[in-house]
Amino acid sequence: VASDRYRDPEHEEKANNFAEQDAWEKYQIGKATLKFGAADKKNSDDYEYVFEDQIEFIQANIMPGSKVRYFSTHKAAVGAMFLDEMQEDRKTLPIFPYRERLLDAITEHQVLVIEGETGSGKTTQIPQYLHEAGYSKVGKIGCTQPRRVAAMSVAARVAQEMGVKLGHEVGYSIRFEDCTSDTTIIKYMTDGMLLREFLSEPDLASYSVMMVDEAHERTLSTDILFGLVKDITRFRPEIKLLISSATLDAGKFSDYFDGAPIFRIPGRRFPVDILYTKAPEADYLEAATVTVLQIHVTQPPGDILVFFTGQEEIEAAEEILKHRTRGLGSKIAEMIICPIYANLPSDMQAKIFEETPEGARKVVLATNIAETSLTIDGIKYVIDPGFCKQKSYSPRTGMESLIITPVSKAAAQQRAGRAGRTSAGKCFRLYTAWSFQNEMDDNTVPEIQRTNLGNVVLMLKSLGINDLINFDFMDPPPAETLLRALEQLYALGALNDRGELTKLGRRMAEFPLDPMLSKMLVVSDKYLCSEEIVTICAMLSVGNSIFYRPKDKQVHADNARMNFHAGNVGDHLALLKVYDQWKETNFSTQWCYENYIQVRSMKRARDIRDQLEGLLERVEIEPTSNPSDLEGIKKAITSGYFYHTAKLQKNGSYRTIKNPQTVSIHPSSGLSQVLPRWVVYHELVLTTKEYMRQVIEIKPDWLVEIAPHYYKLKDVEDAGAHKMPKGKGKATID
Ligand code: CDP
Ligand code: MG
Repeated sequence: VASDRYRDPEHEEKANNFAEQDAWEKYQIGKATLKFGAADKKNSDDYEYVFEDQIEFIQANIMPGSKVRYFSTHKAAVGAMFLDEMQEDRKTLPIFPYRERLLDAITEHQVLVIEGETGSGKTTQIPQYLHEAGYSKVGKIGCTQPRRVAAMSVAARVAQEMGVKLGHEVGYSIRFEDCTSDTTIIKYMTDGMLLREFLSEPDLASYSVMMVDEAHERTLSTDILFGLVKDITRFRPEIKLLISSATLDAGKFSDYFDGAPIFRIPGRRFPVDILYTKAPEADYLEAATVTVLQIHVTQPPGDILVFFTGQEEIEAAEEILKHRTRGLGSKIAEMIICPIYANLPSDMQAKIFEETPEGARKVVLATNIAETSLTIDGIKYVIDPGFCKQKSYSPRTGMESLIITPVSKAAAQQRAGRAGRTSAGKCFRLYTAWSFQNEMDDNTVPEIQRTNLGNVVLMLKSLGINDLINFDFMDPPPAETLLRALEQLYALGALNDRGELTKLGRRMAEFPLDPMLSKMLVVSDKYLCSEEIVTICAMLSVGNSIFYRPKDKQVHADNARMNFHAGNVGDHLALLKVYDQWKETNFSTQWCYENYIQVRSMKRARDIRDQLEGLLERVEIEPTSNPSDLEGIKKAITSGYFYHTAKLQKNGSYRTIKNPQTVSIHPSSGLSQVLPRWVVYHELVLTTKEYMRQVIEIKPDWLVEIAPHYYKLKDVEDAGAHKMPKGKGKATID
């Protein structure tokens, strides 16, 4: 079916231009590819213009009364058809036969614990059932997710199933990105964002139902939410609370929520053969890639899912696999490699959901995001190296690091389960049966017991919850960790000596940032450099994906990077330079390419910056700027980060000042060859050693000036200052 209007060359060209853009999310539905321009909100007026008349055309001519709204030009008709098919698909999910019983149970009970196998349809279906049953007429239906990626991708999926535009009736909210509107009735959000919503709406008055999903993940935010939502059910008898989880913790959740009934959704599960290695693997990355290739050449069709600990490993594995299959050409079947991790751009994330073509095999390289939060159909083989990246925290030293740790038995079982969703499968564990039985913990330790609580304590204090020791924790954090957080907030000036929130603390709590970053933002006012600090905060919040270092152009990339470090200004100021120069070019993409800067990360930094600026206005901080006052900027940074101070040792390593620990400057830092005498660092990362990442040089007397209650003169006395340290050191004489 075609019409002249549909063929309108001007519109078609415009639509095709959009389709080429990265902002498009691609979905494979049946055999049709749908492209959604959801990610690019800035251009939404434009694409509405492009598609409006085609939509009308489809609705009038192809599917009368259909709810289809957005699609690419060529596949529009097919797209409309397949959306209908999608409604049929919804009925095949394991949860569907339980729809009525589930809704009845929700009517009957205020709090319900829901347990169901991953992939049974909890996250995507329950909010829609509630909407269909009329709950959305009373208030919003909220659903929390521990992960950003899951919140976005699930919202996109549900919008698609309901035939609405993402951000309208169905939306999501993640830190620094609010894709919702006044019309939003189903809202997916990260658990951290719901926590922040408590600050503006402590009784969640705009919600009729709240679903705390993936509860088994036991993230810090989810654990705090438990206490807060439990409290709400006491004074809002009409709100419904659902706690849903994939695994075996249902009993524990039920106990915590005063014996709330458990609703079990029986999963469809096919047997999974578990294979162990005979001896421990020395190099699991190597072992995993070899196993992928072995499966690919010896096993019947079916996709492969491999669990890695992070982006670096996934990229390395992708590289190895591509290298080893190069040149094999038609000797082996096509292998489609799909990475998935939190920082992956959303259009590339969508690739993992695309149907695998006949004769090819999909290999998904994932972090533990694919353990329970995302379900990928068609997986028949799982490779589990047995590790994940986990946060760990020492209240004694106050240091937090990400450590590669063996997974728990529960996590290993979840991983194996991913192979048996659509047919019988196999799970290759790259560890021995003995080590599974004897070395792995039964369950993962909840995050609340292995993380810094500064953020959460500040949040709870601003909600007026003062007695933290008696907060209703499902599993309480170590008392030492709580004390440490209180002490840190006191040192930052957010709490007074009675443990009450100060005016500064109240302002800090407005920012969705770590208290140290918030502090540095709020005090930038005093140093008259809020414009510079807000840029630095935004750049730091993007993470370590600003500089791009392609394998074949490392020297060029490193040179480009060092240009920003001219004068050894330090990493924070180099990031500031990157942003300001980009801004001077009017945010040019070409400039990013030339300087080996990732344009995507820069755009994200710009978005974050805009939002932080808005928040600064809210706490009544005027924009101030003095780019040449490097000392002022560094002092503002130090005001937040005086905890993170280290001093150079004779052997070229560093010692942290309080709670002495040996650390080094990360090789990627502009100061890694300079070795200043005193430094402030942004974070520690543990790889082969404890590295400080993002470092600036400071003068030790600033510490006493800025944090007199934390540093005394004797802490910063610098007997060896006149001796030059080893190497090309440049000592500060003070
Ligand atoms: O929450 P639960 O694990 O019970 O299931 P779900 O996430 O609601 O997934 C139900 C179905 O939707 C699965 O078959 C997924 O493959 C599909 N789905 C999808 O195709 N794309 C998404 N972004 C999310 C789910
Ligand atoms: Mg789910």
